[in-house]
Amino acid sequence: MVSSCARFSQPFCGVLALGSLAATEALGAKIAGGLERGDLVLLEGDLGAGKTTLARAILKGLGVSEAVPSPTFTLVQHYETGRLAVRHYDLYRIENPREIDELGVEEALDEGAALIEWPERAGSRLPDGTLHVVLEMTNETARTAILSGVSRWKNLLAGPYV
Ligand SMILES: Nc1ncnc2c1ncn2[C@@H]1O[C@H](COP(=O)(O)OP(=O)(O)OP(=O)(O)O)[C@@H](O)[C@H]1O
Ligand SMILES: [Mg+2]
Repeated sequence: MVSSCARFSQPFCGVLALGSLAATEALGAKIAGGLERGDLVLLEGDLGAGKTTLARAILKGLGVSEAVPSPTFTLVQHYETGRLAVRHYDLYRIENPREIDELGVEEALDEGAALIEWPERAGSRLPDGTLHVVLEMTNETARTAILSGVSRWKNLLAGPYV
């Protein structure tokens, strides 16, 4: 896959090199710092690309200290953080995009923020993400992130990323 912003028409798009797991975790901490009520964070990428790893880092950055299981089987996990309610979704096992309507994404955004892995399984049933992260495997320990969304996320492109 070619890492590029060509397919995105959001106000902001940029490509970030994540040279290590620590760099992905640093990105998560930065996203946590900017996350607001109504934010929809779409996490796209192949199996093992690092979507759950990034979601865990975001939740940790918001102060979640409990274990964060992958919602592969439950489809959604709820978290109450110090300043924001967050729902973490994994749509991999969705068989029909119509199931999305029962998952309460609109309510999640009314109450807080939502992080969604495998958003492409929802077809066109999800609103646009305010932040869309596409993770690509560069090698075993490095990833490339294509970030796009509303312009307030532009600062994510400024490091440092270890
Ligand atoms: N730079 C990196 N960023 C993110 N993960 C990395 C990186 N380097 C190595 N990894 C490892 O890659 C794996 C990513 O797994 P993870 O469960 O986060 O992927 P996923 O995209 O959620 O997959 P799935 O589609 O199965 O849910 C983890 O074992 C993680 O430690
Ligand atoms: Mg995952």
